[in-house]
Amino acid sequence: MIREDLLVEGVNISYVRWKDVPIVYIHGSACNATVWVHQGEEVGGYALDLPNHGMSGEVEIRKVEDYAYFVSAFVKKKLGKAVLVGHSLGGAVAQKVYEYYKNVVEALILVGTGARLRVLPDFLNLLKEKPEETIKKFLKYAFYREEFTEKFLEVFIKRSLLLYKDLKLCDEFDMLEKYKSGFKIDVPTLLIVGKEDKLTPEKYSQFLKDHIPNSNLVVVEKAGHMVMIERPKEVNDAIKEFLGSL
Ligand code: COA
Repeated sequence: MIREDLLVEGVNISYVRWKDVPIVYIHGSACNATVWVHQGEEVGGYALDLPNHGMSGEVEIRKVEDYAYFVSAFVKKKLGKAVLVGHSLGGAVAQKVYEYYKNVVEALILVGTGARLRVLPDFLNLLKEKPEETIKKFLKYAFYREEFTEKFLEVFIKRSLLLYKDLKLCDEFDMLEKYKSGFKIDVPTLLIVGKEDKLTPEKYSQFLKDHIPNSNLVVVEKAGHMVMIERPKEVNDAIKEFLGSL
C-alpha cells in the first residue's frame, strides 16, 4: 500500500495505491481511502481521499457534483478511464461522474448506496448539538457488528462537522425521478448491499437494479451499511467475479 498525491484542478488529492489495475474507490461520508483496504489488498486499484477528507487538500464543496468534478478529473489524469467503486455518498458521486463525465467510466460498482439518500432529520438536527450521542446512534445504524461501532466512535466524533457537511450533501442528492423518467446508465454495473443495511436499505439497491439495464445485485448476509469492512471476502468475491465478466 503506497500513499501518493496528485494535483487535480488545483487541489491536492491524496490516494492509496495497491496493484496497478484501473479501479478507483470512492469512500462515503466522513470516511477516507482506508475504508477500502481489504479490497485494495486483494483486488488492487486506487482509493482516493475526497477533497476535505483524509490527507487531501481543502476546497469548498457545495454539492455532490463538486466531488464528482474532482473524481472525474483524477481518473482522467491518472488512468484515463476506470471502474469506479463508490460507497454511500461515494456511490452518489460515482453516479454523478457517470452522468456528467461518462467517458472516464468503464463500469460501476455501487456499494450501499441509492438514487436518493435522504437522511434521518435526527442525525442532521442533533449532530452539531449533541455530536457524541448522535454519532453513537449513527454508527449503530452503520454497522451490523457492535465491535465496529466502538472501534470507529472516537474517530467519527472528531469528524462530526465533516459528517454533518457530507450528510447534508447526501440529503440533497436525488436522482430518483431522473431514473424513473428514463435516465440510463449503460455501462456494466454491480450493486452490493448488506442485508442489514439500515442507512441505505436493500430496496435502494433493488431500485437501481430495476433501472440499470446491465446490472447485477449482490446482497451480503450479516452485514450492515459498511459491508466492505464487515464482509470483505464476500465483497471481494463479488467484485472479482464482476471484473472477470467485463
Ligand atoms: N431508492 C428507491 N426508493 C427510494 C429511495 C431510493 N434511494 N429513497 C427513497 N425512496 C422511496 C422510499 O422507499 C419511499 O417510498 P414509499 O413511499 O413507497 O415507501 C419514498 O421514496 C419516499 O422516501 P424518502 O424520500 O426517503 O422520504 P421519507 O420521508 O419516506 O423518509 C427518511 C425519510 C430519512 C426517514 C428515510 O429516507 C430513511 O429512513 N433514510 C435512511 C436513514 C438515513 O439517514 N440514511 C442516511 C443515508 S446516507
